Amino acid sequence: MTDSYKPRGFAQRVDEIEPFRVVEVLARATELAAAGRDIVHMAAGEPDFPTAAPIVEAGRAALARGATYYSQAAGIPELREALSCFYADEYGLDIAPSRIMVTPGASGALLLVAALLVNPGDGLLLTDPGYPCNRHFLRLVEGRGQLVPVGAADNYQLSAELVAANWQANTIGAMVASPANPTGTALSREELAALSREVRSRNGYLLVDEIYHGLGYDAPTPSVLEVDPDAFVINSFSKYFGMTGWRLGWLVAPEAAVTEMEKLAQNLFISMSTMAQYAALAGFEPATREILEQRRDLFRQRRDYLLPAVQELGFTVPCKPQGAFYIYADASRFTSDSQKFCMQLLEEHGVALTPGVDFGHHRANEHLRFSYTTSMDRLELAVARLARVLA
Ligand SMILES: Cc1ncc(COP(=O)(O)O)c(C=O)c1O
Repeated sequence: MTDSYKPRGFAQRVDEIEPFRVVEVLARATELAAAGRDIVHMAAGEPDFPTAAPIVEAGRAALARGATYYSQAAGIPELREALSCFYADEYGLDIAPSRIMVTPGASGALLLVAALLVNPGDGLLLTDPGYPCNRHFLRLVEGRGQLVPVGAADNYQLSAELVAANWQANTIGAMVASPANPTGTALSREELAALSREVRSRNGYLLVDEIYHGLGYDAPTPSVLEVDPDAFVINSFSKYFGMTGWRLGWLVAPEAAVTEMEKLAQNLFISMSTMAQYAALAGFEPATREILEQRRDLFRQRRDYLLPAVQELGFTVPCKPQGAFYIYADASRFTSDSQKFCMQLLEEHGVALTPGVDFGHHRANEHLRFSYTTSMDRLELAVARLARVLA
């Protein structure tokens, strides 16, 4: 052994992948709670409900009967079949199970699509604000997120016009989330169709993250597959099905992409958690759906309480969130440094929120995200605390 070892450093891409700033808020919130402070947690992006009992039970049963081995790279056939039925029941769509790949969360689906579609130097249009990992996945495969600033006038979404105006020589497509994180805004069937027409006219790819489907509160959220059978759809068992920690999602891809996707999945993942897949099957049973629908109703009640309360506090929320469990609030009346403001609200008032800077650059320092992933009485407590400080 010599001590002349000088590692050459980490890959350059790592420098360009940003951490979640909310992690700092979450870590501090945990510290404060451990020290005895009462913290209202409104920063995390996951349901506060534990996984529904029938799903847990099915997972337990799968373990007990020895479902501890690798499964097929594209997912167990029963789950792909169940998802195909889900598309028929929920959207009236005929999606062959062969087009559905089960993945390790929507995150695994995002990685697969990025690896399948993106060459070095390619760009994909994304909203700013938007889910930050998208641009990091693209960076990982040597591509680029081409961030399009969106605001209230755009319902915080890409439109056909924005796609046309921002398309560049190296753009290969566009990606949206509906309902979106952090804004909760959704795209109508007509808007999805217009987006699809625009992207198709440029021979581009349209990717739609439908992870918050099932958590729409005013009207059912249409799937892009209703208007564009060639779109790539990313979805997950994390949010509506309440299975964040089980790490299970899925991807719907055009038939022509399936063989290559499966090849990538074999190499990247070998298989998903086998027991999680058997557990997820129980998510489609009527008794489980009933529990999940009741939870959706609770989320709706929370939104209907929190949205006017946040506006009353002096935040501006120009677009009513139609789904997910977030309110993206303009806090420019109070701050021009969202990270500092969040830390201050946490330290001094015990309310944990997510700074806008986690979601991009466009007016990010003037925005905060409220997650209503905590009970109504905790939301009321947070509002009371904020009312005292912001009055
Ligand atoms: C818009 C969006 N897409 C994808 C994900 C990743 O979810 P998961 O990998 O848990 O399915 C999240 C998580 O918060 C999200 O908000």
